Amino acid sequence: MKIVRDLDVKGKRVLVRVDFNVPLKDGEIRDDNRMVAALPTIKELLNKGASVILFSHLGKIKHKDGEEAIKEGKTKNNMQYLVDHLASLLPGVNVSFCNDLRGKSLKETVSALKPGEVLLMQNTRYEAGEQKNDPELAKEWASLADAYVMDAFGTSHRKHASTYGVPEILKAQGKPVALGFLVEKEVQALSRCVDVKDEDRPYVAILGGLKVSDKIQVIDSLLKKCDKILIGGAMTYTFKKALGEDVGISPVEDDQLDYARRCLEEADGKIILPVDNIVTDAFKDWTIKKVSKEIGPGFEGMDIGPETIKLFQEELKGAKMVFWNGPMGVFEQSDFAAGTIAVAEAIANLPDAFTVIGGGDSAAAAAQFGFKDDFSHVSTGGGASLEMIETDGKLPGIEVIRD
Ligand code: 3PG
Repeated sequence: MKIVRDLDVKGKRVLVRVDFNVPLKDGEIRDDNRMVAALPTIKELLNKGASVILFSHLGKIKHKDGEEAIKEGKTKNNMQYLVDHLASLLPGVNVSFCNDLRGKSLKETVSALKPGEVLLMQNTRYEAGEQKNDPELAKEWASLADAYVMDAFGTSHRKHASTYGVPEILKAQGKPVALGFLVEKEVQALSRCVDVKDEDRPYVAILGGLKVSDKIQVIDSLLKKCDKILIGGAMTYTFKKALGEDVGISPVEDDQLDYARRCLEEADGKIILPVDNIVTDAFKDWTIKKVSKEIGPGFEGMDIGPETIKLFQEELKGAKMVFWNGPMGVFEQSDFAAGTIAVAEAIANLPDAFTVIGGGDSAAAAAQFGFKDDFSHVSTGGGASLEMIETDGKLPGIEVIRD
């Protein structure tokens, strides 16, 4: 696969798919990590004398039949909110914005772009054809560029027009397509968690989060790759109920109980579940009510308990590789953060281990508690990093770049 450094793009227009799907509140960027992570690729292209057209989705937009875009979404997920910040991250570079995603004015704006300049396009998902990989839309976007760079790891598991259709067309036309530096780094790190070498064992995965149903494929895949899987977070309660425990009013996916039972049987001791919990009798109360082995009627599990923390720390000792996705409890509330903090700390302090956070909430937790820099790799893609493991490293937005 070609990487952006291999491209000769002097005087060329390069379309770069970035993942600028950043959290916004009232138009303010709350975490610009993904924008910062795309800068090395953008700067490389500018230094090579290219003009750079950036395009990305922002948020989830549902298109009703026949509707081109939802008005409310157009306010809520407007890419224009990002332009000033992008310009501040690229001092001295002329950064402009184009509100049109199709047609004459987009074409003219792109044609007027000079080498060394950056144009940010509007939210790709404002076009109904984006998520359907509409061939007409892909053709129009492809016609804007002489070359394409995929640097949106967080969206590389989506077969959309901007992530798949456009590079497929450009490749067929013999135009250069390549991966950006961010995707290159992600692929290098996550491939190690997919094709496991002997020197990376013991390999321990830690999974948390709410739903078993979201993690079925990744659990099945990790069972084949890992030596141990430690499970925390709310998905624990489905496993616990499957074992016949009374989990009180904790969230349970009843339609996953059979899967959970089968999974535990087939895991043959590889899956380690919590042995105690921090529970409360009213979710909105946010205060610890008790530490308990069994949750019991009227109570809800909020975090893993102290015995589980010790157990997980023991299981992590000596690990040579760790993949972590999903918090152990409701870490946003300080009373229920101890499990997530302890796990982050235990992984961060492992000597000589290759440690990966699979994006999402666990990446936010590691950053919040000051452990982020101690990990070997913190992925920018939650869903994409899980799919990378599920599919043995074959994500459509990356595979399409392959020669
Ligand atoms: C993400 O935030 O995980 C990526 O940007 C992908 O977003 P999506 O799940 O809306 O496709």
